[in-house]
This record gives sequence, structure tokens and C-alpha cells, in this order.
Amino acid sequence: MDNTFYITTPIYYVNASPHIGHAYTTIVADVLARYHRLRGFRTFFSTGTDEHGDKIVEAAQRAGVTPQEYADRISAQFRALWPELAITNDIFVRTTDPSHVETVRRILQKVHEGGDIYFGQYEGFYCVGCERFYMEKELVGGKCPQHETVPEHRKESNYFFRMSRYQEWLVRHITEHPDFIRPERYRNEALAFLRDPLEDLCISRPKSRLTWGITLPFDDNYVTYVWFDALINYVTAIGYPGGENFPVFWPVAGHLIAKDILKPHGIYWPTMLKAAGIEPYRNLNVHGYWNVDQSKMSKSLGNVIRPLDLKDKYGLDPFRYFLLRDMVFGLDSSFSEEAFIQRINSDLANDLGNLVSRTMTMALKYAGNAAPGPAGTVEEDRLLQQTAAKTVTEVETCFSELALHKALIAVWDFINVTNKYIVEREPWVLAKDPGNRDRLKTILYNLLEALRIIAVLITPFMPGSAAKIFDQLGIADADGQNFASLQTWGGLKAGSGLKRGEPLFPRVEVRVEAAKPAATPTEAPAPIKPEISYEEFDKADLRVAKVLTAERVPKSKKLLKLTVEIDGERQIVAGIGEDYSPDQIVGKSIIVVANLKPARLMGVESRGMLLATDTSEGLTLLGFDRPPRTGAKIR
Ligand code: MSP
Repeated sequence: MDNTFYITTPIYYVNASPHIGHAYTTIVADVLARYHRLRGFRTFFSTGTDEHGDKIVEAAQRAGVTPQEYADRISAQFRALWPELAITNDIFVRTTDPSHVETVRRILQKVHEGGDIYFGQYEGFYCVGCERFYMEKELVGGKCPQHETVPEHRKESNYFFRMSRYQEWLVRHITEHPDFIRPERYRNEALAFLRDPLEDLCISRPKSRLTWGITLPFDDNYVTYVWFDALINYVTAIGYPGGENFPVFWPVAGHLIAKDILKPHGIYWPTMLKAAGIEPYRNLNVHGYWNVDQSKMSKSLGNVIRPLDLKDKYGLDPFRYFLLRDMVFGLDSSFSEEAFIQRINSDLANDLGNLVSRTMTMALKYAGNAAPGPAGTVEEDRLLQQTAAKTVTEVETCFSELALHKALIAVWDFINVTNKYIVEREPWVLAKDPGNRDRLKTILYNLLEALRIIAVLITPFMPGSAAKIFDQLGIADADGQNFASLQTWGGLKAGSGLKRGEPLFPRVEVRVEAAKPAATPTEAPAPIKPEISYEEFDKADLRVAKVLTAERVPKSKKLLKLTVEIDGERQIVAGIGEDYSPDQIVGKSIIVVANLKPARLMGVESRGMLLATDTSEGLTLLGFDRPPRTGAKIR
């Protein structure tokens, strides 16, 4: 089973069109699926739409069509979106598919026969947005905490799933399997739910009130509760019970969701599986929420971000890169178009794009149309090779921990090391003297091989750009470009036909008039301070520093403790904790006043101060358009 991989996304409700939240989850699942395929895993990737329940009926009514017509329309939008985002799902499940309906009825029958379903009275508060009952104490000021709407009070006879019976088992299972729900904060949240007695779950709706659902196999007057129906899609997708994919993929099932639907996935679903005699899934991977410019995305605020708008404006690969690079898996993130443009210009156009174009230009100029063979290796080449090997291992570790933004940071560190290799080796100087021919050949080969490695590593994230790099390197058969090919240096064949390509990532010019109005009125600039002489200014020693580690200063919202590299390592404390998470700042090159008298901030020593400025969205660090040299003076 160690070389099989099964990843699922939630099946999305068809009550509204797709937005970047849906795109993010599905792109993460796609990155994981592509990565595992590149590592030789037999992989299955499922997604789909959740089409029953009150919510859909209400949306259909508003649109003046039948629930089926409405579900067909919105489901088709999701289905059409995924290929546009290069999503490689193997199946698209609709809960209205006859095969799914049959699986739901089969499982209900089984649980019923096992004695875990009974008939009873229910009285409670129902939130249609969440499609679930709330206990009074869960409401905030009488309202649903998610939707901030007053739930309906409902009293009716219904069928119940004896979920309470599995509480103890579930607590034990979560405790004994640390990776069952991850990251840890969500595992703790699930365990916290389970500290209170688990109530039985109401799993039916009377047809007198709702007919849009799957009829219970043991009572025609009722339809199935939408969550009991929807969760089962994960086994429908792989052909439960008789399909050949089921025994192959179920033991490695990994679900991907956001924190909003932790309870159904972390509590209802494992107990349902247990009652149906199916092994629990392997893990539940929970990510945070995308907000927009610091607020929750919502139709009423009019700030819903549509994935195709961004793809059309900036290109698919930059969009995928940005989503994966800017969200720390598990934490919330705030989407801003400015931050997106900044990433395109610095990470993509400057770092990666320039590396590819510089390398190709030099190789074509000095070696002609074929990749040169290496001719002798010296220490500095071995260093580059070792960094490549270390990067591959690091990326693998990051994937196993779902730290996808860190995987990208590791690849970008290697890109920067390669850029530095060019600057330090100065191939254009070597090219002036024919005596250096062999050395030049080796350097060019190393650069081209580094590009091949980078292209393999970015394939899961940016498959289109990786393919363009392979094409420029003359690699026709991209199938061989997998993780196994990264085990040894030298995968690029000497003689490979090189091609000039278009720039991979055009820079985005930011037009000032297009900038959004600031959220708060712009303040008048502070008055300029009295003049100083150059000598006085020159006393300040400003340096390029690379952030090596970052952590929060305990009990402080604002302060981060950083270890930075300048002339060696040193510690500084910076008041940027509300604007940058530790993960977002590690790996960045920043500007530090290096000769400022040491000070203590909340008891922590700081040897220097970083430079930042205020924007309408908080502080932003001062940075660079080209990769700087750590320790360099700012002039
Ligand atoms: N139909 C249920 C899921 C049933 S799965 C058996 C549902 N659908 S949903 O359309 O509301 O999708 C919720 C999921 O969409 C989240 O768990 C997450 O994967 C994604 N996202 C929706 N909004 C999001 C953000 N703002 N940010 C990140 N992801 C979000 O719940």
C-alpha cells in the first residue's frame, strides 16, 4: 500500500458559483496528486458536487428553476472550471449520480440492520446554511456562529444514527493515530468536541418538508440528511463495495477540507464508517480560510474572488503558485491582488524567469544549439550539486508534512543559489578566453541541469511552466522527468537540442490609477526631518540580511524574534507580527540597520532593526527587485 495514494476534495455545494476558496482546496489536492504520480505512486484523485438538501432547494427557488436544473447548471460550472485550472481529477462525483444514490442506500441499510439507526422525536435549531442542527449553547447570541443568521426552530419525528455509541472508540482512534487529523490544532479541536457527550445524529428529513434527497431504503416517507449522503461520496468514488479500486485506495484515503467542515469529517464520518463496518480513512488534512483584504469572503460584501478572473488576468501558473506560496497550510490567509503581483514580479519574473532566460541565452550563445557535456568538476560545482540533492530531500519532507509553502521556499532557495552560481562564475568573462572552454562547458552544463531539476520540482505546482522549461532544454519525453530522475546529478543528456523560448513570466506593471483606494483615508506624509550631511547618513550601516528563523515572542502579538544572516548570524526583534507570520518571513532578504545599539524588547535582545513601511493593509518589508547578496551594504 505504500505506493498508492488517494486524495479527495470536499464535494462542493451547488448553491453558488466557484470562488478562490474552492479553487485553493482543489489545486492543493492536484499538487499532491501530481507530486505522488511523479514519485511513482498509483494515484486516485476525486472531487465533485453536493447537490441535495434545503440549501439547494432554496437557491433553485430563488433562480426560478427546479432543484435538478439548478444542480445541473452549477455542477457543470465546477466541472468546466477544473480543466481550466489544470486539475487532474480522476473522477467527478455528483450526489445525484445513480451509482452514488445506490451506495448511500446500501450503507444506510447496513447501518440500520446493525441496529444503529432508530426513530425518534427531535426538537432543535436548524441552520440551513450549515445544513445542521445546533445545540442552544453552540449559538452565539441566538445565531449560527458561521452564518450569523437566526436558525429555524424545528420539531419533527426523524431517524437517528446512534453516533454516541462510537464516541469512546473515536477518542481512542484519534489519540492513537496522531496523523488521523492534522495539523495538530484541528486534531485538538476535534478532541475538544468529544469532551462533551456526543449526541446521536438526526439523519433524515420528512418528505412533507423536503423531497430533494435520497429516499431512505427503510422508510419511503423520508429522505436522507444531506451530510450523511454527501460524506459517502468518498467511497462511491472508488467503487465501494465491489469495485476494484476500493481495496486498493481506501486504506490510504486522505481527505482535504477547510476548517469549516471539520465536525462532519472528523466526527460524523469516522463513526458512520465504523457503524458500516468500513475501516476509517487514513487522514483528514485541514487547511485555513482565504479571506479577502482581511475580511471574510461573502456575496453580500461583494468581495468574492473568482478564480477564472485571476487566471485570465495573470495566467494559470502564477495563480497556482501564489495560492500555494502564500498560505501556510492550516492557517488563514488574506488574499490581496497587490501581494499577488509582487510575487509574480519578484519570485516568478525575477528569480525563476530570469534564471531560465539568462541560462538559455548564455548556453545558446556560447555552446550553440546543443547542451554541452561537462568537462571536469571542481569544488564549487559539487556544492551546487549537493544543494540540489538537499533541496530534493527537503521538498519531499515538506510534502510529507503538507508544508507546501515551505517546499516552494526550498525550491526558491535553490533557484537563488543557482543565480548566485552564475554571478560568481561569470561565464561571460570565461567566454573571452578560449583557454577556458572546458570550464565554461561544465558551468553551462551545470546550469542547464539545475534548470531541469527545478523544472521537475515545480511540476506539481506549475505544470505548464515546467513543460516550457523542458521544451527549451530539448527534453521531448517529459514522462522521464520524475523524482527518480533527481536521485543523481546528470539527468540532462549532453547534446540535447536547446531552444530559445518566450519569457516564462512577464512582469506585471502596476498602474497607479488601478490601485485600490486605501481602506482608511490616506494620511498626509509626515514632514521631512531637518537636513543631515552625507557623513552623518553614512554612519548608519544598512545591510542585506537573510532571515533564517522566525518565531513569535511569547505573550506579544506584534513581536517576532528573528535569526538573520549578515556577517554571521544575529538575533533581531521586529514589530511585524501582526502583518507577517513567522513562516512568511523565513527565507526573505530584508534590510537591517546593522550598527544600531542593541536593545531589549519584552526581555528579548535585539541587535539591529529591520526596515518596513506602512500601507493600507499593514506593514510591508522593504525588499529587492533582484536577488541581493547577503551582507551587502545598502548604498
Ligand atoms: N458540500 C459540503 C462538503 C461536503 S464534503 C462531503 C460543503 N461545500 S462547500 O461548497 O461549502 O465547500 C466548502 C469547502 O470549500 C471548504 O471546506 C474548503 O475546502 C473550500 N472553501 C470554501 N470557502 C473557502 C475559503 N474562503 N477559503 C478556503 N477554502 C474554502 O461544505
